This record gives sequence, C-alpha cells and structure tokens, in this order.
Amino acid sequence: MTFVFISVSYHMISTKRLSLNYGNRYLFENVSIQFYTGNCYGLIGANGAGKSTFLKILSGEIKDYSGEIEIMPGKRMSTLKQDHSAFDEEEVLPCVIMGDSVLTALINERDALYAKPDFSDEDGMKAADIEEQIEARGGYHAESEAGKLLAGLGIKSSFHNKKMSTLTIAEKVKVLIAQALFGQPDILLLDEPTNNLDLKAIQWLEEFLIEYQNTVIVVSHDRHFLNKVCTHMADIDYGKISIFTGNYDFWYESSQLIRSIERDQKRKAEEKAKELKDFIARFSANASKSKQATSRKKALEKLDLGSMKASTRKFPFIDFKPEREAGNNLLLVEHIDKTVDSQKVLNNISFEIQKGDKIAFLGDEIAITALFDILMEESQPEKGSFEWGVTTLRSYFPAENGKYFNSGELNLVDWLRQYSKDKDESYIRGFLGRMLFTGDESGKKTSVLSGGEKVRMMLSRMMLSGANVLLFDRPTAHLDLESIQALNDGLIKYNGTILFTSPDQQFIETVANRVFVLENGSLAIHDKTYTEYLESLQ
Ligand SMILES: Nc1ncnc2c1ncn2[C@@H]1O[C@H](COP(=O)(O)OP(=O)(O)OP(=O)(O)O)[C@@H](O)[C@H]1O
Ligand SMILES: [Mg+2]
Repeated sequence: MTFVFISVSYHMISTKRLSLNYGNRYLFENVSIQFYTGNCYGLIGANGAGKSTFLKILSGEIKDYSGEIEIMPGKRMSTLKQDHSAFDEEEVLPCVIMGDSVLTALINERDALYAKPDFSDEDGMKAADIEEQIEARGGYHAESEAGKLLAGLGIKSSFHNKKMSTLTIAEKVKVLIAQALFGQPDILLLDEPTNNLDLKAIQWLEEFLIEYQNTVIVVSHDRHFLNKVCTHMADIDYGKISIFTGNYDFWYESSQLIRSIERDQKRKAEEKAKELKDFIARFSANASKSKQATSRKKALEKLDLGSMKASTRKFPFIDFKPEREAGNNLLLVEHIDKTVDSQKVLNNISFEIQKGDKIAFLGDEIAITALFDILMEESQPEKGSFEWGVTTLRSYFPAENGKYFNSGELNLVDWLRQYSKDKDESYIRGFLGRMLFTGDESGKKTSVLSGGEKVRMMLSRMMLSGANVLLFDRPTAHLDLESIQALNDGLIKYNGTILFTSPDQQFIETVANRVFVLENGSLAIHDKTYTEYLESLQ
C-alpha cells in the first residue's frame, strides 16, 4: 500500500486500484473512485459489506490493502473515533480541541517551550512564531468553538471540565462527534454518527452537515438522515463501490425501478428510457424543494441514472418460534424503584402484561434500559418486586452486546452452539444461514464481526432460544435496511409476547398493540396502537 500526496488535483481524496481480501472473500477489488470537494457522500451497503473497513483504509488505520489512496496535499482529515473509552483520562473541552491534531501539536509545543526552566531569547522568538501559527488556525477561539459544538449536541458547559470516564456512552459519543467536527476539517469521515444520538442532537448534526462546505463521507443506516444530508451515495456491493448523484431515496427508488425493468424482459427499451426520464424529472422537482437545495443544490441538478445498477441486497430470514405457549399469567410488576446516576428513573412502577401483548416503551431511554435489565435479572431494583409466569421463557436483546463477544476467540458456529440445546453443526449452520452467514463465513472468529453482524448473531441466538417472551432494547441500531425489514416482519408474525423500545417509527407502528411511556420516573399506559396514541396527543 502507498499513501500519495498529489500536487494538482480537484478531487479531495481518491483511491486507485484498491483491493483488500479476507481469505477468499474480496471486500474490495480494484476500486478506483474519487470524492470531490463540497460533496457529502453517504456510504451505504449491507452489514459486513466493508463500510467501516473502507473508512479505516482512508484514514490510514488499516494498512494491509493493495493499491493507492491519494489525498490533496496539505488537507486535514478528521474521523469519528469508534473507541468510546479512548479519551477516558481527558476532560471534555480539551478532548474536543484534540480533534485538530495540528493545532494540538502547536499548543503542546508552545506549552513545552514556556515550561522550560532555561527559557532563552531564541525560545521566545520560537514561541512567538508558534503563537502566530496558533492564531492563524483559530486557536484563540478554540474553546468557544468547541463549546458551541458541544452545546449544539446537547452537552452543557457544566460538563466542560468533567473527565470523559465519568460520562455515559451517549454523552461520550456526543463529545467524540464534536471532536471530529472541530476545526473545519477538509475531509470528514463519520461512521454511523447517529447511532447513540437523541433526536435533537441528530437534527442539529443534520443542519451542521447540510451547511458544511467541505468533503464528508458518512456511513449510516438511517434513511431519513441520509436523505437530509447527502448529495451523493457511494454504494458498496460485491467488492465494488459505485457513486451516484442524489440522496438515498433517489438511489433506492431508481435501483428498484431498474431491477423491475430488468426482470420484465418483454418491455421495450424506449419504454424503459421514458419511465426513467419521468422518474428523474419527478424526483428532481421534489429534491429542489427540500431544504438541502440551498447549500448543496448544484449536485442534485445533474441527476443521471448513467451506470445505475439494480441492487443485489439480500434479506435475512427472521422467524422467532416459541418452544411452548405461555400461560395467561405473564408478568406482574409491583412498586419498582430504581436510581441511575443519582437520578430516580423508576419511581413506584407497577403494571401487568397479558399473553400476546406487544408493548412499545417510549420516553426516557435510561429508565427503559434500567427496567428491562431488572426484568431480565441483570440488575436489582431498590424497592418492589416482579414475577414472571411459570410458563414463560424469556430472551433478551440488550442495547450493549459487548459482553457476549468479549473473548472473540470462538468462530460463529461455536459461538452460537453455546446457546443451543441441539449441538449438531448443520442445525446451527441453518440458523447462521438465515442470517446470511454461509460457507466459509461461519468459520470466522466473532472478534472480526462488524457492528451489524454482531446484531445478526444476537438475533440468531434469540431465534434458537424458543422463548415465548422477547425483550428488545433498540434492536435496529447497526442493522442494514434489509435486516430491519426482516426483523420487523419477524416481530409482526411472532405470536409470543414482546416488550421493546426502538426509535424506528415504522417498527413501533406495525408491531405494538400497547404503548408504555416512561418519563420522569413514572409510567403512563396507553392500551392502543402507536398511531392511535399519536392521535390521542393532538
Ligand atoms: N480479519 C478479518 N478476517 C476475516 N474477516 C474479516 C476480518 N476483519 C473484518 N472482516 C469482515 O469484513 C467484513 C467487513 O466489515 P466492516 O466492519 O467493514 O463492515 P460494515 O460494512 O461496516 O458493516 P456494518 O454495517 O455491520 O457496520 C465483515 O464481514 C467482517 O466480518
Ligand atoms: Mg460498520
């Protein structure tokens, strides 16, 4: 591999004949693409297609590829760090400023000079020179810029001097996003930035990226987010990356349309051409009305289906089958109290659940996670009690799955075998196959799994369990759209009982028959669907 800094170029970053394979499987095969200044590229592809890997190649974190990466000389690249605890020893505000590595180096150099016991005239000149460079880089406004970014994401100034280790994961993610955005990087690489964000912070980030003038490459499975911020889609499929102008809906609709036309061999070529032209005209008209039109309009004015190919995505098959039917007494919860981070998130909570209920929990995420953890006996309430019916068999999808993959040493078959009564390999492989892990794939270690692949393994584990009660804490985070759809279908079809929480509106709408809202420690129960619940609010 080589990193080349080229002198004359109008593209910000590009790859030449980039290839990377794991065993027989090519993640990338001779990929040569360019990313231009001012565009925002949504990097999409199925779970495990190689999105995170591609960003790591661009940022230099992965080096064992062949081919070249070219970056415009003198340009600064910034990435959203994935390791949530990497900065645990830092305070919040300095941690954000560390996002500009050049500025940080200058500040450190200056501080080291001033700290010298034998500070000479020469050191003074040097320090003055460095001060000038710091000023030119906006160093004297660094704290106020960092504070603004944090405030936008919902981190108050009282947090500025807190140590990162004292923050929740959601708060850490916000600080790391602010760090990535800090100092106007020329190239901004964001891997699933919205995953742990609340709605307000997502909206702020959307506005920020719409206004952003430099090159952005962002991985996301959030269709709404991609539509709002992206001028282009970069689709990873079967070892290739193809770039299309337009947002996600445009890419999706047109690739579906082409697929249906390709299937229908009888249709004439002119008909196809006309259908595509009409589609582009309709779509462009809608796109230019959107807010995005103001700053990133240019790109969308030139929509062209050019080399658009049909999407070849596959759907996993998700089907939860209870081993036995549960009796009528399902769950009784009485007077539960729980405090998290000195805040009472559950205050005298009581409720009852009937067989077959599918309950969507809305509101305070921390409270919902605390309640689910208590019900699954992963933590204790301070007060109160609960009782599951004797015929119930429960299975849990926790928001954090790290502890299930801690060792990382097992291959996929052996990992799943731990949770199966039937130890037969072909039986286990059957469940892996439904989740699209086939052939050699099942022999890989869990340590190399992508975020979405880990979620697919957790879902296989739940399918194997034969449980008649399922609890899900935000199951769609990390999943690609095909898997979300498959999970959605699986939950609609399931005839057991479900307790779940998810930010995905469609999910809540199509699955839930009851809505429980947990807020300020109290529970409000609505015996209606989500749509009826929303109507009742008006
Ligand atoms: N050392 C390795 N050996 C074998 N396979 C590997 C190795 N490292 C990564 N992989 C595989 O490479 C693929 C790409 O992983 P990557 O994390 O880039 O996917 P992704 O597109 O970001 O997926 P997601 O949407 O789930 O985040 C995965 O199938 C992963 O299991
Ligand atoms: Mg990834």
